[in-house]
Amino acid sequence: MPAIENLIECEFSLSEQLCYLNHAAVSPWPKRAVDAVKCFAEENGNSGSRYYEHWLETEQLLRRQLQALIGATGSDEIALLKSTSEALSVVAYGLDWSAGDQVIISNQEFPSNRIVWESLRPLGVEVIAVDIDSTAGPERQLIDAITARTRLLSVSSVQYASGLALDLAPIGAACRQQGVAFCVDAIQGIGVKPFDVEACQADFVMADGHKWMMGAEGLALFYCRREWIERLSLRQYGWHMVEAMGDYDRSDWQPAASARRFECGSPNMLGIHALHASLSLLLQVGIETIFSCVSDKVQYLVDNIVNSGGVILSSREPERRAGIVTFRFDGEAIEARYRHLQENGVICALRGGGIRFSPHFYTPEAVLQRALTFSCQPLNS
Ligand SMILES: Cc1ncc(COP(=O)(O)O)c(C=O)c1O
Repeated sequence: MPAIENLIECEFSLSEQLCYLNHAAVSPWPKRAVDAVKCFAEENGNSGSRYYEHWLETEQLLRRQLQALIGATGSDEIALLKSTSEALSVVAYGLDWSAGDQVIISNQEFPSNRIVWESLRPLGVEVIAVDIDSTAGPERQLIDAITARTRLLSVSSVQYASGLALDLAPIGAACRQQGVAFCVDAIQGIGVKPFDVEACQADFVMADGHKWMMGAEGLALFYCRREWIERLSLRQYGWHMVEAMGDYDRSDWQPAASARRFECGSPNMLGIHALHASLSLLLQVGIETIFSCVSDKVQYLVDNIVNSGGVILSSREPERRAGIVTFRFDGEAIEARYRHLQENGVICALRGGGIRFSPHFYTPEAVLQRALTFSCQPLNS
C-alpha cells in the first residue's frame, strides 16, 4: 500500500486558496470519486444502460463496503436510501405505536432526529429530550431516562454542533436489557471514527454519505438489524422492494427478505458509483488510521485556540470527540468572525453558538495553521 502521504497527494487537489474545514457539512470528493462520476457519465453518454450488470456489481460492492465499515453481520441488513432523514422516517413510521409510548432523544440532536419523533405526537407518542450536558455524563443521563413506557431511544453517535461523541455500548446494552429499540444517527461518526454495530447493539443506524464518507449527497446507509427487518411496517412500495425483483410478469409479490424491502424504486446509481469510490479510499487507509489522524488535527486546533484565549465549546476530553471542534472568543460576535473566515477562504460552519471546524484525515497542517491565523487575529486587522 502506498504511504498515506502519497495517497493524500494523489487524491486531494483542493484549491490552495481554501482552508476546507467543513466535512461535518459536505465533504469534497477524493479524485477517485471524481473519476468514477466522470466515467459513469461518459458511459451513460456513450452507451446508456448497456452495462447495467456492471453497475449492479458496483451496487453490491458498496453494500459490502458499508457492511464492513460498521461491522454488520451481513449485507442483507443494509439498505441504500436517499438521506439520514428518510431512514429515520422509515423507522418512525415502521413501528407500531400506542398512545403513551415514549421516545428518548438528547437535547443536542440535529432537527432530523427530533422532528420525526415529534411528528408522532398525534399518535400519543411522547418525546423526552434528555439534557446530556449535565455532570452525570451523557450515557448515564440517557439510560436513567428509560421507563417502562420507553419504546425507542434515538441519538447521534456524534453531535452535529458540539461534536460530542457518545459511548454507545452502555446505552445499547441498557436498551437491549429493557426491550427498548436503539436507533443511532451516525452521520457525524461513520467514516471518521470506528463504528461497531454489534458492539453497540444498535437496531437501526443511518448515515448519509456526503460528510465523513466523502460521497455525493442523496445516498445514505440504512442498517436494520435482521430481527427488525420484518417487524417494521412498510410505507413505500414499488418494483424494487419485492423478493422477485425483475420478474415483471409475476402478479403475486412479497417484500424482499433483506433490507432491500426499504428501497422502493430505482437506485441512485450515480451516487452509488461516487460513494463506492470514496469508501474504497477510506477502507484502504483504514478507519483506525483516519481516526488517529483526525484526532491529532482536532487536538492541534483545540490547543492553539485555547492558547489564543478562545473558548472550546466541544468536549475537552479527546475520547469524547470525533472530527468536530466548536469554539468562540468571549466578547466577540461569532457572525463577524464567521464572515471574516469565509472572506479569507476558511470554509467552516456556524453551529451551536460557535464556529465549527471539521478537518478530515488528509487536511494539511498548513491549512490548520492558516485557519487558526484567521480565527485568532483581531477582527479589524
Ligand atoms: C446529526 C445529523 N443528522 C442528520 C443530518 C441530516 O442528514 P440528511 O440530510 O442525510 O437527512 C445532519 C446534517 O447535518 C446531521 O448533522
